[in-house]
Amino acid sequence: MTGIVPAPARIELRPAAAPFRFSEGAHIVAPGTAKRIGALLAAELLAATGREVPVFETAPVSPVDRSAGISLLLRPLDEASEEAYTLDVSDQGAVVTASTPAGLYRGTRSLRQLLPAPASRVDAPSAAWTVPAVTVRDAPRFAYRGVMLDVVRHFFSVDEVLRLIDAVAMLKVNHFHLHLTDDQGWRIQIDSWPELTGIGASTAVGGAPGGFYTKADFVRIVEYAAERFITVVPEIDLPGHTCAALSAYPELNHDGIARTPYEGVEVGFSSLSAAPERAEATDRFLADVMREVAEITPGPWLHIGGDESWATPEADYLDLVRRITAAAASTGKTVIGWHEIGASGALPTGTVAQYWSYLVPQENAGVLTASVVELGGRVIMSPADTAYLDIQYPGAPATPHGYALGLDWADGPTSLEAAYSWEPAGIVPGVGEDAILGVEAPLWTETVLTIDDVEFMVFPRLAAVAEIGWSAAPGDGTRDYADFAARVAGLHAHWDAAGTRYCTAELDAAG
Ligand code: ACM
Repeated sequence: MTGIVPAPARIELRPAAAPFRFSEGAHIVAPGTAKRIGALLAAELLAATGREVPVFETAPVSPVDRSAGISLLLRPLDEASEEAYTLDVSDQGAVVTASTPAGLYRGTRSLRQLLPAPASRVDAPSAAWTVPAVTVRDAPRFAYRGVMLDVVRHFFSVDEVLRLIDAVAMLKVNHFHLHLTDDQGWRIQIDSWPELTGIGASTAVGGAPGGFYTKADFVRIVEYAAERFITVVPEIDLPGHTCAALSAYPELNHDGIARTPYEGVEVGFSSLSAAPERAEATDRFLADVMREVAEITPGPWLHIGGDESWATPEADYLDLVRRITAAAASTGKTVIGWHEIGASGALPTGTVAQYWSYLVPQENAGVLTASVVELGGRVIMSPADTAYLDIQYPGAPATPHGYALGLDWADGPTSLEAAYSWEPAGIVPGVGEDAILGVEAPLWTETVLTIDDVEFMVFPRLAAVAEIGWSAAPGDGTRDYADFAARVAGLHAHWDAAGTRYCTAELDAAG
């Protein structure tokens, strides 16, 4: 089946027309600023085919076969989204058009999916590669399509993170949220508070090795993501989830005594102090951390957490959220927080709530989320019982660690079909299409030890959330799961070729 994930806004296959042959003379024409996207595509095709694919600024005359070209062209498109693109494939070549480099890059992701994956053609000479004749007109539904990696419960190296960024880019994900601090560790260098990593980075869950990103590491991740038109969203989780910071600096604790470093998985026991005698240290900590993180973050967002602050008295929580969000906003960034921050009526302009309750809002989650919208903010939808990537897949087998990966607290297990069968605009009363910035699939890593484990939990369910974020809302309110599942099955060969792990437990169970 010829398919693209996420499904494009419009796709017209012309089965009777001659296909594009990716033959010996294959080359890429990419004028001007399109050239770096052409170079990226050429590097991928070299890795996939073993063939050098030259990149030209203008169409070559000879000796190459002029009909074997991929053209990446920047042209005005009649589409509001800067990620919009068109893709026209015929026996004359493959042409991607967009009005911005980001749109061009998204278009190359569709083209990559239409090219056979090398693993699927081990017997076929690469000269036989073809792309079916097709016309695609595409633009995203939501501006924000994210994935989150918790690098605290378990830590992942820069190279592992880059590998994941490549794999999620294929699904047109455009935000990569790094959960950088929590009870079990502090994972980002802060020069003015060196013990945050000196002491706070040494731990991880269950005695696993800790670790942290130097600023240079973080910049490398940011730049690698930016080349793929993905914005990194750093999260400093406050005022709860702070045991690592509280173990590093006694003056952040209400009693002035450093906490013991923590390797467990239970949360909700730690808090910054709102006590007046701690205000100087706490506000200096907030200002320094926000400033230093903002300095290495070119993207517009700073995520300040705000979730599960069960050890923070309510009045203190409101006071601390006001101070935390003010410190974050003073860097010029737009603040994102988990939906609990909606308890505060004093959020900076434009603050975004990330909703993580269920498809049916639990307790006051809906009210808190709607409150952020009433203040002029927007919402990222991450309903835990469908979009959380840490929840087990049905029938997931035990891994070499001796257990099935993932947790089951959010009404788990979560099937691929469940991950696909929801509608972001229908969940929180008062939070409709216009109030929704987008969707995000978070991966918490309590049980997830290695990058292979990460990929196994992320794929294929991220494809479902990516499609909900990119593709048009279903007209009749229901999504065609069979069509989606068939297109996802088409990705398996690409994941195999890239060495990306994915869960097939449901397929295995279905026989
Ligand atoms: C969360 O899952 N505590 C945001």
